[in-house]
This record gives sequence, C-alpha cells and structure tokens, in this order.
Amino acid sequence: MKIAKIDLDKNNMLIVDDKKYFVLHKPKDNTVKLVPANCPHRGGPLQYGVYNEAERVICPWHENKYKPCRLAKNKLPYVRVRKMCALFAVKHVKA
Ligand code: FES
Repeated sequence: MKIAKIDLDKNNMLIVDDKKYFVLHKPKDNTVKLVPANCPHRGGPLQYGVYNEAERVICPWHENKYKPCRLAKNKLPYVRVRKMCALFAVKHVKA
C-alpha cells in the first residue's frame, strides 16, 4: 500500500492516477477536503478558483459557483494531522 503525504502549507493540488485533486480549505470551520480539481461544467481548473464569502468555490473559467458539499461528493479519504494530510491505498501519486 502506498502512502502519500502533502503539506497543506505548500501544496494545494495532487494527482492520483492521472486525476487532479485540490485542497478545499474552509476557513470558517478549518476543515479540509481533497476534491476533484476539474470543474463539473467544462473541466476548468478549480484549484485556481476563489472561495467567496458565501462559501462557494468560483471556477476561474466561467465563474460558476459550487457548494463545497457538491464538490466533496467524490473526495479522497485521508488522515489529517495539523498541516499534513496522508492518503492511503492509492496507486500513483504526484504532489
Ligand atoms: S469550466 Fe468551470 S464554470 Fe465552466
């Protein structure tokens, strides 16, 4: 079993089996989720999006807004210890 670790202060994206995920950090409750980085609309790079005051992620391509819970439907499971996340049972990881 491979284990990948990412430093949340240094990385906001990782690639698992050629699929991109980004670190969705909700400052309000300090939660982190690793969610697919491709926008549901046309695959825009959500890792470059903005998290607005209404707690929506705004895609940089067409500015559609998404609730974090919608993006988190396909999140990766992980263990978080302070500023580090560890993923388990992944085949191929690039940070
Ligand atoms: S690709 Fe994200 S809003 Fe269109």
